[in-house]
Amino acid sequence: MKEQLRNIEEKARDAISSVTDLRALDDLRVSLLGKKGELTAILKQMGKLSAEERPAMGQLANRVRATLEQLLSEKNAALHSAAQAARLGAERVDITMPGKRPAAGRLHPLQIVENEVKEIFLGMGFSVVDGPEVEYDYYNFEALNLPPDHPARDTQDTFYITDNILLRTQTSSVQVHVMENQKPPIRVISPGRVYRSDAVDATHSPLFHQVEGLVVDKGITMADLKGTLEMLMRRLYGDDCKIRLRPHHFPFTEPSAEVDVMCFACHGAGCRMCKGEGYIELLGAGMVHPKVLEGCGIDSSIYSGFAFGLGLERIVMRRYNISDMRLLFENDMRFLEQFR
Ligand code: DAH
Repeated sequence: MKEQLRNIEEKARDAISSVTDLRALDDLRVSLLGKKGELTAILKQMGKLSAEERPAMGQLANRVRATLEQLLSEKNAALHSAAQAARLGAERVDITMPGKRPAAGRLHPLQIVENEVKEIFLGMGFSVVDGPEVEYDYYNFEALNLPPDHPARDTQDTFYITDNILLRTQTSSVQVHVMENQKPPIRVISPGRVYRSDAVDATHSPLFHQVEGLVVDKGITMADLKGTLEMLMRRLYGDDCKIRLRPHHFPFTEPSAEVDVMCFACHGAGCRMCKGEGYIELLGAGMVHPKVLEGCGIDSSIYSGFAFGLGLERIVMRRYNISDMRLLFENDMRFLEQFR
């Protein structure tokens, strides 16, 4: 029996040392120490021994069992730490590798120029105000001295929500909101989207952007209008930039003017870009019509004002030499990536 126990220990040592994975080790543990294992089988035969032999044999069997348990648990620990080391090796991250730069977006050219225009006017003491894009006919037309049958409405056909509610065709509607809610002195600009039912081509879009300006105070004259716009154009296009006012007609201003800016290509000499004119038409402006002031509850015998409206797309296209307005709305990354 002694022999058998030694034998079992010997075989078990070899078997344990050659096991390479945890599952095989577990099977081995069951076959060595389990109920049907060899060691158990021998212990069952203890009863047959004489009383003198039994204690020594019992001791030996227990020692062998303890040895096997010890070996199994050491092997178990070794296999566990080997498995962990392998996992750590496989999952290793090289922290010295350069990172992936996240793709940062950038401002749309319309936004770049709008921000610039805002900065220029903020510097002259204006505030920036917002107005609704879905608008009552009253604010878009009627309060601006364009009654229902006025022919000038034809040039600003738009999208109607109801007979009475429409998408605004001009930011001039914001003038009325401001004058209804604020007493003079007023000095505001209002950039935003406007809509007209125009077909899309190189110079037209059913959605475009305007920046409206309005100043109302005592003693405001055409000279203030010209000085303000001249300052705007110099800041946008350089100090040698000149502007020119031409008589025009808008229902909500009197007198009215169209404002031309000196051609950047030829500086007034006349070239292909300005079609020989030397100047390029850029915006509409004028002195706020007394009817408009009175309609908003402002006494036109005390106050006067000037207003202007400029098309943002036109300024952006001049600035960046863009010949087709569609480029501004198509969101082609190859185009947009050029602007900083
Ligand atoms: N609202 C006009 C347009 O869309 C532009 C304009 C002209 C605005 C004269 C003004 C102005 O404030 O005084 O064509």
